[in-house]
Amino acid sequence: MRVTASAPGKITLFGEHAVVYGYPALVVAINKRIYAMAESRSDDVVKISAKDLRVPGIVVSYVGNEVVLETDYGAVLPAIAYINKAIEITSEYLGVKRGVNIEIKSEMPVGAGLGTSAAVAVSTIAAYAAVNGYELKPEEIADLGWKVEKAVQGIASPMDTSITSLGGFLKVRYKDNAVERTPISIGKNLPLIIGYVEREAKTRDMVALVRDRLNRYPDIYGRILEMIGIIVEKANQALTSNDFKQLGELMNLNHALLEALGVSTRKLNELVYIAREAGAYGAKLTGAGGGGCVIALVPEKQDLVELAMRIHGSMVMKTELGDEGVRIDKVEIS
Ligand code: PMV
Repeated sequence: MRVTASAPGKITLFGEHAVVYGYPALVVAINKRIYAMAESRSDDVVKISAKDLRVPGIVVSYVGNEVVLETDYGAVLPAIAYINKAIEITSEYLGVKRGVNIEIKSEMPVGAGLGTSAAVAVSTIAAYAAVNGYELKPEEIADLGWKVEKAVQGIASPMDTSITSLGGFLKVRYKDNAVERTPISIGKNLPLIIGYVEREAKTRDMVALVRDRLNRYPDIYGRILEMIGIIVEKANQALTSNDFKQLGELMNLNHALLEALGVSTRKLNELVYIAREAGAYGAKLTGAGGGGCVIALVPEKQDLVELAMRIHGSMVMKTELGDEGVRIDKVEIS
């Protein structure tokens, strides 16, 4: 038996980092997915193949006569760790231990801050459970996926695994030992442009950096995180009422606070400023920072903003928002 399951990537609209400390975040699924194919085996071997995990970019620099090629290929290896852990944790949860061949395909670059690790974990959990005859609920898959993220990366909020499991637009919060996952109603399509600059640091390092600063200056960093929490609540109202002007202002404010936390970079800041100057109503980094993606809210002058972002040297991605969460795409019985 062969089962294909898939789960979407995501963009954090507001609240990254603060969500790790119990504040809410607003997050949306995108229409780029990870596909996990699980094929049952008669032995107990777990075989993983992920030939199709793409990396965001290649950087070529010339040092004298020497050509230096840098890639983000290292980002693929951690993704494999999520698959292995996902199978281990799902086996334990279901009380089954059977071998499986897992093949992963990705429609998006890994390590760019689009939630690929969570989508890899969640699609693997759904496919592995289904090939063993279990249909898990999206919330159950989200909880298992969160366990996988915590096991692999140490600290993680339930944000990415929640959105990739449930899909759509969500407000996510971990409060009083429970995960709140509240769908957000959005009237009009959000005109977002996503720009990517090469990543200089991993999510785990950026989360550790914030934790360290918070430990050293709890009264300062604690307040910054609290302010991000307030922005998230206001942004939720602005989203519901389609107030793009206010939403843009709040994105700029959120970016300023992420910069204050220390997770932005010069390249991200430049991209944010270029997008704003070219006509975006607001722009901010999205995800953990240390490079990665910027989102710009662009209800008008879209071509101009996109061009300015490309000239700056960033990759530009367009995507539809609000995609469906984890799903079983195909079941083949041989
Ligand atoms: O790794 P990313 O880009 O998906 O962002 C992680 C978001 C953080 O809030 C920084 C960490 C977390 O676990 O929520």
